[in-house]
Amino acid sequence: MSIGVAVIGAGMAGRGHAAAYRAATSLYGSDLPEVRLVSIGDVNSAFGQAAANRFGFERTDSDWRAIADDPKIDAVSVVVANHLHREIVEGLLAAGKHVLCEKPLSDTIEDAVEMVKAANEASSFARIGLTFLRNPAIAAIQQIIASGQLGKVLHFSGRYWADYSADPMAPMAWRYKGGMGTGALADVGSHISYVSEFITGKPVKSVSGARFVTSIKERPVATGAVMGHGLADVSDKFEAVENDDYAGFTVDFGDVAGVVEVSRVAAGHPTSLNFEVYCEKGAARFSQARNGEFELMLNEGPSGQRGFRTVQIGPAHPYIAGGLAVDAPGVNVGQNDQFFFQNRAFLQEVAGLPETAALPYCASFEDGLHNMEMLSSVIDSYNANGASVDVPAAAPTYLKKF
Ligand SMILES: NC(=O)c1ccc[n+]([C@@H]2O[C@H](COP(=O)([O-])OP(=O)(O)OC[C@H]3O[C@@H](n4cnc5c(N)ncnc54)[C@H](O)[C@@H]3O)[C@@H](O)[C@H]2O)c1
Repeated sequence: MSIGVAVIGAGMAGRGHAAAYRAATSLYGSDLPEVRLVSIGDVNSAFGQAAANRFGFERTDSDWRAIADDPKIDAVSVVVANHLHREIVEGLLAAGKHVLCEKPLSDTIEDAVEMVKAANEASSFARIGLTFLRNPAIAAIQQIIASGQLGKVLHFSGRYWADYSADPMAPMAWRYKGGMGTGALADVGSHISYVSEFITGKPVKSVSGARFVTSIKERPVATGAVMGHGLADVSDKFEAVENDDYAGFTVDFGDVAGVVEVSRVAAGHPTSLNFEVYCEKGAARFSQARNGEFELMLNEGPSGQRGFRTVQIGPAHPYIAGGLAVDAPGVNVGQNDQFFFQNRAFLQEVAGLPETAALPYCASFEDGLHNMEMLSSVIDSYNANGASVDVPAAAPTYLKKF
């Protein structure tokens, strides 16, 4: 057996998926069958060809349907703008391909519901890339809390600061189109939302106090293609920004509450998911700017000597042993590694290999829908002047098995 893979979207995150498939067979032992790197799909042939060359894929396709129609391809990552996910995912599932779709599932709750239906009716399976579930430090904190060592969770405070939009001359791109809630909230708020549940061990019940701000109201139109968060040559034409640069809201998990804030105009924070979690017997905190460590506070010893201590990530923590070429203590990890671990888990399932505690399968489309329902409730709260809005009840798979 071998697995033929393709990546649709050769942009910023698409390259992360391409690199991850290339590395997959070198991670966590040698039980994965041969992985054939078949195609990188991108409407921009230059982007597609460059990525295919760089990551060793056989070809590029400018139309995703060529990937859907190719019997040599078994598994496909969908890594394009959020509003394009539904059509491509549904087409791939109808063609019998296993799908790993990037977060958020789509840009509207209606499309997300239809995507779940399509996944449930498909002969193949569909998963979503909730990439920060694969962060070793975050997973380590989750394990410590789930073990009961810190006691009952009392309070969560989470932020995702990014600064890719802080420059007013950063060009217009798909990220700035769509209504309030499709901006920073969908882009980076989607991540901290599921992380808040993963860490507290509870699905969110309601959100309130939602506030959106469009800090920079128009952006210059680029003269060429725009990829990822990058700057580009721009014209003197400007278009209106339609969505949020900043979003803030409170989260209620029942007996635990907290605040979440996200921003794409947080100058000096290129990309930093960070949080603190406070518990009866101590606390833990994480900052993506220091991916190779987390901080732990245990209520033990004389009160005058308590405080946070720094724990360096190593093989004793999730994903490191066998997941890094050099998996010795203190060897650092980054967001690229999260894609490696995630796509290896996806291929594990495609290959029919068992799910293990060390390598859980990827999250489901129902999890992706729940994530969108949480974001949608934030939008509803904003439209209701900050009123509390219930999030439909859910039991995300990442609370049961990671
Ligand atoms: N998990 C993560 O950490 C993470 C990080 C970044 C982005 N993402 C997600 O990945 C997705 C893509 O984001 P990005 O930053 O890579 O975007 P991007 O703008 O850098 O790249 C998108 C690519 O899609 C191509 N494209 C556009 N229309 C297409 C079509 N119809 N068929 C094929 N290709 C098409 C574009 O030419 C471009 O190369 C989004 O859903 C985003 O939320 C996830």
